Amino acid sequence: MLIEKMSLSRSKLDIRTSRLLLRPIGPADVELLWPHVAEPELSKYMTWDPHEDRAETAAFIASELAAADRGTGHCWVLEHDGAFAGVIGLHGIVAYTRAWRRDHAELGYWCAPPLQGRGLMTEAGRAVLGCAFEVLGLHKVSVGCISENAASKRVIEKLGFRFLGEQRDHCFRFGRWWNHLVWEMTVDEWRQGTLQPSNAAAGEGSPSA
Ligand SMILES: CC(C)(COP(=O)(O)OP(=O)(O)OC[C@H]1O[C@@H](n2cnc3c(N)ncnc32)[C@H](O)[C@@H]1OP(=O)(O)O)[C@@H](O)C(=O)NCCC(=O)NCCS
Repeated sequence: MLIEKMSLSRSKLDIRTSRLLLRPIGPADVELLWPHVAEPELSKYMTWDPHEDRAETAAFIASELAAADRGTGHCWVLEHDGAFAGVIGLHGIVAYTRAWRRDHAELGYWCAPPLQGRGLMTEAGRAVLGCAFEVLGLHKVSVGCISENAASKRVIEKLGFRFLGEQRDHCFRFGRWWNHLVWEMTVDEWRQGTLQPSNAAAGEGSPSA
């Protein structure tokens, strides 16, 4: 069951994998994110537009910190060999929808362009799924991407999500409608996946106590 946000210290959300440190995002990260979030290519398949100034980046970080405070989200900065490597988050964490217990979140991420294509986001995704299910007590994590986003689709497949389908004309941008692919994973699927020898690394990424 989703754990009480009050019992979560920031340090409990520091996660180390073989190549990455994942640490909760903070106000001082504006300068790390800024040059990347200003690049139109990075956000072309994401829900947001390129940032026009650092104030926009600071506002994004503030909204993530507010979500963490409310217990509705967690956002991590990735570091690889001391360099900024990207951002990953669990968004829209919900414990209940009226009478329905949900314990659900959405996964989202982006990798710093110089470090793309090295398997880092797949490694970060495994670590965050481990945290979602084994530390935060979530029951299900969903993820989606624009159908043309081949790199993200591949990350999601490598993480072992179960494909649900394609949503037609899901969003309008750049003068056209775009289709959207959606997947999900339950805690049981995560645990079964981590038990398979081929996914031995899936459990990697222990949050520090
Ligand atoms: C999606 C993204 C996070 C992937 O990060 P990454 O660290 O490069 O991911 P990984 O290296 O773990 O895996 C990428 C996989 O996609 C594959 N890939 C990359 N570009 C591809 C393309 N154009 N077509 C097909 N496959 C592609 C890589 O070969 C790799 O697969 P492999 O390990 O089987 O070779 C990164 O491309 C990114 O930040 N994109 C912009 C932001 C974004 O779209 N975020 C996701 C929104 S849903």
